[in-house]
Amino acid sequence: MSRPVPVIAIDGPSASGKGTVASRVAAALGFHLLDSGALYRLTAVAAMRAGIPLDDEAALERVSAGLDVRFADGQTWLAGDEVSDAMRSEAASVGASRVAVHGGVRSALLDRQRAFRQPPGLVADGRDMGSVVFPDARLKVFLTASVEVRAERRYKQLIEKGLSANLESLSQDLRERDERDSRRAHAPLVQLPDAIALDTSSMSVDAAVRFVLDAWEKAKVG
Ligand code: DC
Repeated sequence: MSRPVPVIAIDGPSASGKGTVASRVAAALGFHLLDSGALYRLTAVAAMRAGIPLDDEAALERVSAGLDVRFADGQTWLAGDEVSDAMRSEAASVGASRVAVHGGVRSALLDRQRAFRQPPGLVADGRDMGSVVFPDARLKVFLTASVEVRAERRYKQLIEKGLSANLESLSQDLRERDERDSRRAHAPLVQLPDAIALDTSSMSVDAAVRFVLDAWEKAKVG
């Protein structure tokens, strides 16, 4: 019997660097990349644009099921609008964490995420890649960093993009999102027993990428 397309699941809290690490690992291996947070962010942006309250689960489920998304050349398009920066704003980050608590939204996005599993392999980053979306992932990594380090990273990212940012409020937002993402009833962020933990607080991106690639070398032969 042929083996299933391999998946590397990288889960962890907001701004832990998983997006950057995941895309570098995918590029190094020639694998596809799934940024699952983007789908929750896009659901939030689409809902906010349509004036849909972020606690209206039935309406949000319809929004996520019908998302008209295009990812191309490092840019993201939502219903024909280029939203690459808008979806990274703090409003979209907080909105994504709020829409993600709804089980209906999560189920509506499941098939769309699994469709990214194509040969020769997939690197998927998010909160529930290893627990719900790809429980049979060949390698599971739980990537984290302290709140202070994560707030500083987010601050730099926003400033570099010319967006306004405040370190205090970013830390506060991150704490609240950690709390919401870990305490929710559906697919909470958890460190799985079969995941390898990696704390990147005092680690460079290069070192984190190397760590995951080394772990993959061992996992793929197992
Ligand atoms: O990874 P990110 O910061 O782009 O994710 C934004 C929000 O989306 C996050 O606060 C929680 C939600 N999310 C989720 O619930 N499950 C995922 N697999 C990915 C993101």
